[in-house]
Amino acid sequence: MGELVIEALGLRKVFRGTARRPGFGGALRSLVAPERVTTVAVDDVSFGVRAGELLALLGPNGAGKSTTIKMLSGVLVPSAGRALVAGHVPHLDRPANARRIGAVFGQRTQLWWDLPALESFAMLRDIFKVEEAAYRLRLDELAGLLELSSFWKQRPRQMSLGQRVRCDLAAALLHDPPIIFLDEPTIGMDAVVKEQVREFIRYQTAERGRTIILTTHDMAEVSRLASRVVLINEGRVVYDGSLADLQKEYGSGWKVRVTFAHGAVPPALPGLVGTAGGEHLFAGTDPAAQRHLLRELLDRDDVEDLQAHGDDLEDVMAAVYRKRAETTR
Ligand SMILES: Nc1ncnc2c1ncn2[C@@H]1O[C@H](COP(=O)(O)OP(=O)(O)O)[C@@H](O)[C@H]1O
Ligand SMILES: [Mg+2]
Repeated sequence: MGELVIEALGLRKVFRGTARRPGFGGALRSLVAPERVTTVAVDDVSFGVRAGELLALLGPNGAGKSTTIKMLSGVLVPSAGRALVAGHVPHLDRPANARRIGAVFGQRTQLWWDLPALESFAMLRDIFKVEEAAYRLRLDELAGLLELSSFWKQRPRQMSLGQRVRCDLAAALLHDPPIIFLDEPTIGMDAVVKEQVREFIRYQTAERGRTIILTTHDMAEVSRLASRVVLINEGRVVYDGSLADLQKEYGSGWKVRVTFAHGAVPPALPGLVGTAGGEHLFAGTDPAAQRHLLRELLDRDDVEDLQAHGDDLEDVMAAVYRKRAETTR
């Protein structure tokens, strides 16, 4: 693995505002004696991401994921702690840092709402001072990967969600940034477009070596794309490690039930926990061991029936939140 390129060092963000009291009298009182409210959106978040890694930032709604990403991408200034991206503080020296960073927020477009996407791209080319030849090459590649050319002359306001986010992805990559932040890029997409966007994200790390932080609620996406996960809850990191270890720690485990052809000698395979009525039950906690067992079994021609039950990642996440809620109560 490469060097650390993204560092969250004790990041904290507190929002201060005034609460509005209901009614006209309330409005008057709020004017005279505003009631201060503070929200600790991010309490204390630390983690590092190495060059070429794709880190999934997970957590329930309101956990502080978007606020963390905004501090890392220089959109928000931390109340305490420090963000370092490629060795620089993102909110300082904005122009230089913006060149290293690409960001997509699935819930909100970065494009000009009433400008054809292609014109937005040209404006970004000028803002980031991308040379014409390099711009054409990149735009060509991005348009091919994301299939943009049939709608990129439309304005974002006329586009479907999937079209709009694909344009946002292209816009974020036009200046060829080595670091990308993707905040719920596939939210609300239909399965086909989602798959296209996932493949695009996979390509950007695996083939182009970009470093990515991705937030999503889609666990299939996490297991497909992420090499590591950081789980946050109420503004604090509650887990940092591999997905497999998370499953091992919190999952209830996997099971495989196998029936062999009559008279066949059952193989000596690890994980066998019992035999009943001709059915052999294997169980374990390490997902890699289950994959290994399934490969062994699928290679045999005397397996009559086989059922595999895995930990559903959704269940694992639910178990993590439950456990955390219990320990912090
Ligand atoms: N601009 C803001 N002003 C006040 N509170 C905010 C603001 N942005 C986010 N929050 C609050 O901070 C908490 C974390 O929000 P957010 O980072 O968006 O969480 P997530 O992305 O994990 O759903 C939430 O309680 C949210 O309501
Ligand atoms: Mg969010």
